[in-house]
Amino acid sequence: MDYRISPGKPLIGTARVDGDKSISHRSIMLGSLADGATRITRILEGEDVLATIDAFRAMGVEIVRDDQGYLVHGVGIDGLKQPKKMLDMGNSGTAFRLMTGILAGQPWSVTLGGDASLSSRPMGRIIRPLAEMGARFESVEEKPPVTVTGAQSLKGLRYEMPVASAQVKSALLFAGLYADGKTEVREPAPTRDHTERMLSGFGYVVNRHGAANEWVSLEGGGRLKSTEIEVPADLSSATFFILGALISKNSELLLPGVGVNPSRDGVIGIFQRMGGDISILNRREVGGEPVADLLIKSSKLHGVSLSHDDIALAVDEIPSVAVAAACAEGVTDISGAEELRVKESDRIATTVAGLKALGASVSEKQDGMVITGGNLEGGRVESHGDHRIAMAFAVAGNVCSSQVQIADVECVATSFPGFYDLYSYVGLDISIS
Ligand code: S3P
Repeated sequence: MDYRISPGKPLIGTARVDGDKSISHRSIMLGSLADGATRITRILEGEDVLATIDAFRAMGVEIVRDDQGYLVHGVGIDGLKQPKKMLDMGNSGTAFRLMTGILAGQPWSVTLGGDASLSSRPMGRIIRPLAEMGARFESVEEKPPVTVTGAQSLKGLRYEMPVASAQVKSALLFAGLYADGKTEVREPAPTRDHTERMLSGFGYVVNRHGAANEWVSLEGGGRLKSTEIEVPADLSSATFFILGALISKNSELLLPGVGVNPSRDGVIGIFQRMGGDISILNRREVGGEPVADLLIKSSKLHGVSLSHDDIALAVDEIPSVAVAAACAEGVTDISGAEELRVKESDRIATTVAGLKALGASVSEKQDGMVITGGNLEGGRVESHGDHRIAMAFAVAGNVCSSQVQIADVECVATSFPGFYDLYSYVGLDISIS
């Protein structure tokens, strides 16, 4: 299926974006491992999270959807059952890596697989430290499918992560629940801390230490107490609408209840540095996560330089930042973004290709790109099966000089099934065929 976008509309009104993907995955995982029932409201019902739900159902967890949301009947930390067949994690690197951490502590074997994109993503980053803790792995070139044979009792680990990855950190902390003694992980740069916050919400003690609080640790052998979780709106999904309102004339958009966790809100600061008019209103805390209402107005943007530290806090938002840069005055230089090459697509290559297809002036670097702002033309952009590429360029379509087609948009359902309806709701002109 393709989107067709006719340009030139303002984004007006109030729009609630779908639930946070990272928090939704973790709520199902920890809810399943807790003692007692966990109520989850506003969970994201995207394909990635549904894959996590199916996987836990296959391991004997009763997860019920009702008119208030989801009720997860936790089986306790030691209550998962060996599934009868392979667990299919679809397109989701988060589900795959975090699950592997949990599976490392189960006294049985299971194979985890996924779609073509997931099967090309590197898993050595979790396999190696989890093997040090005592789990065994079989795979070809450390890519999915991966067979995990867990250990009855893992060894605690002190591990300095070579890449700043919340997925790796979380996998190790989950395995650490099953380890003897302490598991300690050092992040080379801050990464999203939803796992640590949610573990605390389930009554599990997580510690931070080091000069910059760069070490996170927990002791194995504890239990998780069921809780209630309200999932905030996903800042990564909100980003497409923030981008749309900033670059489209006469726009004024309010996005309520968006997660603004400082370990992943980098995109707001980047857009503000570019001259974006974004007000953060009514800051509050929902279920241990900071949340706010975001008010965005059309803005005259200018170029900016981004380096490694900016990227870690906005790792999923760079395609949108690149579209903003293509509409801004002057040059934007993005460096230190090599992690983007191993996301759902090679997002440096696919973002550059999308910008070129719309006539932007852009050159690719190994670790980023250089974009000179100007006007975008109509054209056809390939999603390459990557949801964030599809959505960032669908929004770009509103400021092009003629119609834009985005090819293969089925992938949007992995993270933001409500995207199309919301895009129309805020006043934009989109059709799907
Ligand atoms: C995620 C962490 C990020 C991010 C992904 C979700 C998470 O990956 O790209 O979409 O929920 O922990 P890395 O931490 O591996 O960069």
